[in-house]
Amino acid sequence: MECFEVTGGAVLNGRVRVTGAKNSALKLMAAALLATGTTTIDEVPDILDVAIMSEVLRRLGCEVTYERTGNGSGGGRVVVDVPEKPSTETDYDLVRRMRASISVLGPLVARCGSARVALPGGDAIGSRGLDMHISGLERLGATIVSEHGFLIATAPRLVGTSIWLDFPSVGATENLVMAAVLASGTTVVDNAAREPEIVDLCAMLTAMGARIDGAGTSTITVDGVDALSPVSYTTVPDRIVSGTWAIGAVMTRGDVVVERAVADHLTVALDKLTDAGAVVEVLPDGLRVSMNDRPRCVDVVTLPYPGFPTDLQPMAVALAAVSTGTALITENVFEGRFMFVNELVRLGADVRTDGHHAVVRGRERLSSAPVVATDIRAGAGLVLAGLVSDGITEVQDVHHVDRGYPDFVQQLRGLGATIERTQRPD
Ligand code: UD1
Repeated sequence: MECFEVTGGAVLNGRVRVTGAKNSALKLMAAALLATGTTTIDEVPDILDVAIMSEVLRRLGCEVTYERTGNGSGGGRVVVDVPEKPSTETDYDLVRRMRASISVLGPLVARCGSARVALPGGDAIGSRGLDMHISGLERLGATIVSEHGFLIATAPRLVGTSIWLDFPSVGATENLVMAAVLASGTTVVDNAAREPEIVDLCAMLTAMGARIDGAGTSTITVDGVDALSPVSYTTVPDRIVSGTWAIGAVMTRGDVVVERAVADHLTVALDKLTDAGAVVEVLPDGLRVSMNDRPRCVDVVTLPYPGFPTDLQPMAVALAAVSTGTALITENVFEGRFMFVNELVRLGADVRTDGHHAVVRGRERLSSAPVVATDIRAGAGLVLAGLVSDGITEVQDVHHVDRGYPDFVQQLRGLGATIERTQRPD
C-alpha cells in the first residue's frame, strides 16, 4: 500500500502550475471516438484515470499515446487514432476501476449504432445512478437493456428530441450531447449541467464540426450532423486542483500563485476564501491567494455549477476544522461524501454530521495520526489537514489521490511542504 507521510507545520509559498481538468480530459478523449482519424488533446493530466481511459479506447480499437510536456504542471499530450469501425464493448474490469468509462456510451451508440458498456456498480461517494443517461438515450431512440452486468444500447440512427433532466447531471449531460451531435435533427437538453467541463466538451465538439448552442446554460441545443472530423484541442485548466491549492494556501497561512487557474470558474469558492479572511488576487494567467492570520469559519453549500463544487467540499471541511468559529457545511450532490469525516476526526477535528449537514467547530491545530483516503478529493483534503497537524500524518490508500492530482507530492514540495511517498505492507 502506498502512503504519504505529511509533516505538519507547513506554510505553502510559491508558484504552482495547473494542467487540464481530469473531468474534462476524460470526456474529450471519449469524444475523440466520434471522428475517424487522429485527434490530439493537450494539457491532459498524467494521472491513473487518463491511463484507464486510454485503455478503454485501445480496447475499442484506437491507438493511444501519451507524452509528458515537461513544463512542471503534470500534464501532457494524448494522441488518439480512431479507426473507421471501432469495436463497441467496454468491460467491467475497466468501468469498475473508473466510472467515467461510461462516457463512451453516448459516442459509441451515435457513431456505431450499438454499445455494450459494463455497469459501474457501487461507488464510495454515493449510489450514482445512470437513470438519466439511460432515459435520455432512450428518448433519442436507443433501445437499452441491462444484461449480465452490461448496458446494451442499440439504435440504427438516433433521432433528435427534447430531454428534460431531473437533475443537472454532469455525466448525463455529456453523454447525451455526445450522442446528439450525430443524431438526425435537433435535440434540446433542458436542465443541463453548466460546468466549465461541459463548455469545454462542447467547444471541442464544435471544433470537430458539431452544431451546439447554449453550452454553459441550462438549455443546450444540438443540431445533428452526418459526420465529425478529428481535431487538436487543449483541455480547460482544472478548477478543482486550482481550488485545492487555493484552500491549501489559506489553511497553512501561506502565499501561493496558482498559474492557469481561472477565477471565473471558482467564483463561489474564492468568495468563501475572501470571507474567511484571505486575500485573493486575480492575475492575467492565474490567481494569487494569501493569508496572514487564522481563517474564520464560513458556511458552505455544495450545488451544481455555478454553486460551490462538491469536489472541494472535503477541503472546505478541512479548512473549517482549523478556522475560528463554527461552520455548517451542506452536501447536496453526493450522499456518501461525508464518509471521510471520520478520518478527519482522527486528526482531532471537531466535526459532527447529520444527514447531508456537517457542523465543524474550528480548532487551532490538528493532531497527526494515520488516516485513510476514501476517494480522490477526501485524500487531498486529508493531506491539507496533515499540513496543519502537529507531527507526521500518514495518509494511506493514496492511489485515490493519484487518480486526480498529477505530481501531487512534487508540487506540494515545490510549495515548501515536507511530504514523502512511502510503501507499507498491506
Ligand atoms: C462528475 C465528476 C465528479 C463531480 C460530479 C459533480 C467526472 C468524471 N466526475 O461526476 O468529480 O463530483 O460530476 O460535479 O466528471 N445521478 C443520478 N442519475 C444519473 C446521473 C446522476 O441519480 O443518471 C445523480 C448522482 O448519483 C449524483 C448526482 O446525480 O448524486 C450528480 O451526479 P453527476 O453530476 O452525474 O456526477 P458525475 O458525472 O458522476
